[in-house]
Amino acid sequence: MKYLKHLTGIYNLSVGQITDILDETSVQKKLLLSNESIENLKGKSVLNLFFENSTRTRLSFERAENLSGLNITNFNPENSSLAKGESIIDTIRNIDALKFDFIISRHPTPGFTNLLLNFTKSQIINAGDGTNEHPTQALLDMFTLREHFGNLKNKKVCIVGDISHSRVALSDIFALSKLKANISVCAPNVFIPRNISSLGVSVCNDINFAIKNNDALILLRVQLEREAGNSISSLNEYRKFFGINSERLKLNENIAILHPGPFNKNVELDEDILDLDNLFIFEQVTNGLAVKLALFKLMLGS
Ligand code: CP
Repeated sequence: MKYLKHLTGIYNLSVGQITDILDETSVQKKLLLSNESIENLKGKSVLNLFFENSTRTRLSFERAENLSGLNITNFNPENSSLAKGESIIDTIRNIDALKFDFIISRHPTPGFTNLLLNFTKSQIINAGDGTNEHPTQALLDMFTLREHFGNLKNKKVCIVGDISHSRVALSDIFALSKLKANISVCAPNVFIPRNISSLGVSVCNDINFAIKNNDALILLRVQLEREAGNSISSLNEYRKFFGINSERLKLNENIAILHPGPFNKNVELDEDILDLDNLFIFEQVTNGLAVKLALFKLMLGS
């Protein structure tokens, strides 16, 4: 594949680079599931620089780092000298002085990875920057859809929920668009950015129509920590008009359902659908591990 030094977002990736990552993810998933050995990247170092909470992204990176034999350092902002007033730029300058090969970064500020690019010489992977991008989530979502459908060209995919506050939505839209899927969003108007049509996305406000007329739904969490809960009248109301449940799924029993997690149970989706075969939430987490193994191999490996 064309050399990939940093992964800051899907926006900057070519179709060929996305396809190469998904193809390598397929190889890594097979190795993972058959307990075959993963390429050892011994001697390379990685810093996990997480300023926001995370379960799936952080654990899957750490697991991939362990499986790849990387030398791992974890940064905890709460017990760092940031708490003594050291600035973020000076913190990054000190991190640069420690000469990590790789920095995996999650931060609430959109564009934070650009600070890392400006002030360090490490290779950077964006593990989520505010409401901007979450490229590894989009890659695992594309892998999950491609594994299920074979090809995303002309597949109808609807992103449901809090588009405005979601970095996953933007990365998924960039990726789906590059892979030539047919993209729509379905949400209350307060959750839909006004310029969404400029991204080649159509809008629907009727979840029953979205279920009937799509091949896949990507559900998004109502992001209470980003004040999304204040812009809708109540979570119960959201569930009533946009929640996915077994009754609604009778409209299209084969539709594939994804959610990046964590989900608000009985808000975006009801508990009674968690065991459905066409719900990929936990498969997505395994696929996320394979994506990280693929990225380490392609960005650091031989
Ligand atoms: N999907 C995702 O990014 O989950 P975490 O916040 O738990 O990492």
